[in-house]
Amino acid sequence: MSAALSLQRLHAGYAGKDILHGVDIELEAGGALTVVGPNGSGKSTLLKAVVGLLPLSRGSIALSGKPVEALNALARSRLGLAYVPQERNVFANLTVGDNLRLGWEFLHPRMEISARRDRLDYVLQLFPEIRDRLAASAGLLSGGQRQMVAIASALMQTPSLLVLDEPSAGLSPRNAALLFESIARIRATGITLLMIEQNVKLGLAAADHGLVLVAGQVRLLAPAQELLADDRLHRLYLGTQPGVPETL
Ligand SMILES: Nc1ncnc2c1ncn2[C@@H]1O[C@H](COP(=O)(O)OP(=O)(O)OP(=O)(O)O)[C@@H](O)[C@H]1O
Ligand SMILES: [Mg+2]
Repeated sequence: MSAALSLQRLHAGYAGKDILHGVDIELEAGGALTVVGPNGSGKSTLLKAVVGLLPLSRGSIALSGKPVEALNALARSRLGLAYVPQERNVFANLTVGDNLRLGWEFLHPRMEISARRDRLDYVLQLFPEIRDRLAASAGLLSGGQRQMVAIASALMQTPSLLVLDEPSAGLSPRNAALLFESIARIRATGITLLMIEQNVKLGLAAADHGLVLVAGQVRLLAPAQELLADDRLHRLYLGTQPGVPETL
């Protein structure tokens, strides 16, 4: 069976200058991969290339065996890919309910309302914290709840591959932990997950594999638990300081 996501020798960047220099990734269906790395190492650039917001200068991307380099972001979402960017990922002036409805209508404009309700029920089970906030303006929520709305809206698309850019950015440790409880529930549904996370402990604990991206290249790729215990993780960023950093 083909991998849910396959990147081969991927190069991409901005204004003719590559930021990513030959990235290879194979992500099995139902797998979860967390990408960590220093600021500016190209993590968000990698996700933008995967979801179709940035053209490749070289290399290939396949979703479930289908080459998608020539497809734009909308066409990739129709193939089951949903993306939650690092910032500005909800409509702050709309209600939570309307944000979720837009997530659905984006890909299912002609489907029955009952199908949307069923999906909404399903998604809200994964995010019980926002169930009572459907009528609230998304802009008035806490950062943690807003991030839940962003991910829940993406899940309304019924994706098979969910791509998250730094879901815990800007959250308190408590809200980050709560959010990752939801991410664990999402994983348990069998969806494939590709995520960037600056909180290395939380991010790797939520994944089966971890990847360290440095200067646009894969420096380490290993089972997440191994990576958490790997001295090289510390050496790559922090000299020989012991203990896994919360944040790289
Ligand atoms: N739109 C853009 N135009 C030009 N250069 C950009 C653009 N976006 C990012 N870059 C550059 O590409 C490099 C990688 O940026 P990227 O956002 O991918 O890093 P990152 O690993 O996600 O960092 P962070 O941890 O801070 O989110 C940086 O040098 C950045 O300045
Ligand atoms: Mg980034």
